[in-house]
Amino acid sequence: MSHKKNILCIGAGYVGGPTMAVIALKCPGIRVTVVDINEEKIARWNSDDLPIFEPGLDEIVREVRGRNLFFTTDVFESISQADIIFVSVNTPTKSFGLGAGAAADLQFWEKTAHQIIEHSEGPKIIVEKSTVPVKTAEAMQRILSSNKKGIHFEVISNPEFLAEGSAVQDLLQPDRVLIGSLQTESGRKAAAELVDIYAQWIPRERILTTNLWSSELSKLVANAFLAQRISSINSISPLCEKTQADVGEIARAIGADSRIGTKFLNASVGFGGSCFKKDIMNLVYIARSYELHETAEYWEMVLRINDFQSRRFVNRVIRELFHTLVGKRIALFGFAFKANTGDTRESPAISVARHLLEEHARVVITDPKALENARIDLADVLDRVELEEDPYRAAAGARALLIVTEWDEYRRLDYEKIHASMEKPAFIFDGRNILDHQALHRLGFNVFPIGKPALTHYA
Ligand code: UDX
Ligand code: UDX
Repeated sequence: MSHKKNILCIGAGYVGGPTMAVIALKCPGIRVTVVDINEEKIARWNSDDLPIFEPGLDEIVREVRGRNLFFTTDVFESISQADIIFVSVNTPTKSFGLGAGAAADLQFWEKTAHQIIEHSEGPKIIVEKSTVPVKTAEAMQRILSSNKKGIHFEVISNPEFLAEGSAVQDLLQPDRVLIGSLQTESGRKAAAELVDIYAQWIPRERILTTNLWSSELSKLVANAFLAQRISSINSISPLCEKTQADVGEIARAIGADSRIGTKFLNASVGFGGSCFKKDIMNLVYIARSYELHETAEYWEMVLRINDFQSRRFVNRVIRELFHTLVGKRIALFGFAFKANTGDTRESPAISVARHLLEEHARVVITDPKALENARIDLADVLDRVELEEDPYRAAAGARALLIVTEWDEYRRLDYEKIHASMEKPAFIFDGRNILDHQALHRLGFNVFPIGKPALTHYA
């Protein structure tokens, strides 16, 4: 089958892989290639053992791979053939030099721009898919325009809004697709080309076009707002614990106001994941670079509340366990940053585990999918941590259970059996409010939810 158009995606990561698989599925007339410098990753994309797990992804890849979806490491050949190039390489927080710990590290992006110049023979549309600081497109446009071959490259922005665990669904039925371009004739034309691609399966009214900078900034602001909702409800949770109010009831009461809405109001031990913290730090850095200190401080508070919440969670464990954790076995139920993933990037479990170790507790961690990553995250303290696949064995002999990830299986455990195997008095600290607290209390546990009255067997 000959294809009308060639799309290339540079970066076969969490974003690039699923996005291209869905474009290939929905646009059989387009040839889609995904390239990555990591040979092992590409080999896995070409195997039955894909490098990432997302519900529904295996089936889609099986259907389109070899038809109009191809994975390769040959970056040069693929660039020269592409009409549209998505750039989806990673943009981590800078760990060195100016802006270390706050700004985005754009070295991979810039390297990619130079590769594009080197291997292009004709005009191309470059789609910024990675989350980047505002005005990155301008820098990229400048680099790309510096080519000596007289080739026109049009840089447009198309940020992703995938959440882990629902990436395929988010791609098939997105709330919206955002495309930003320069408001020039060639900018608008490039945006329209991308709109036509998405319009093959997404209603046009859900495809928003904006100027380039609005699009780049919207991505950061969307994540900042989502994180802010969690910090807002989390900031209320200690107040609930002091006043006998119930944070779950408050979330329900305020969420019923359609202007506020019900989602992202679950109080928790804190948010994690690869995006929220990174994107807020990025936003803060940009605001500071324009000397907008109030804006910067406002968003910084979202991160401060998040740190406060996980620190507060551990402080409560210390206080309730009679002000000392020395030598006590404490079981962490869950290490992933959220359920249904093995991803532990920025997981609150990491700081919880480290704070417990500072108190000389004996920490045991169980998680259905994240123990491999826990081993890496805690490499420097592994001699003091036990990793245990079986939650029952993790709990045996423990003084306290800490629910850190909202895995469904933790709702279904036999807590009577668990209680019998624990040291007494036994405690549960439910950092996700997923358990039946009354039932646990009846079994003999002292129960400490987030933002709800504690249920204890002592005054
Ligand atoms: C990345 C960014 O981290 C995120 O900010 C953005 O929104 C989308 O792209 P993700 O797909 O999760 O997200 O990153 P990752 O899974 O690390 O994938 C990036 C891939 O790019 C890696 O497979 C890496 O090997 C590849 N890469 C990196 C290249 O192919 N070439 C490079 O020069 C650098
Ligand atoms: C997020 C955004 O949702 C997505 O649009 C963006 O593209 C990438 O970042 P993700 O990091 O996969 O996606 O996870 P998300 O489901 O948003 O959860 C982030 C964190 O917030 C998790 O640690 C989760 O447990 C926590 N959370 C979420 C809460 O603590 N309470 C809530 O009510 C919702």
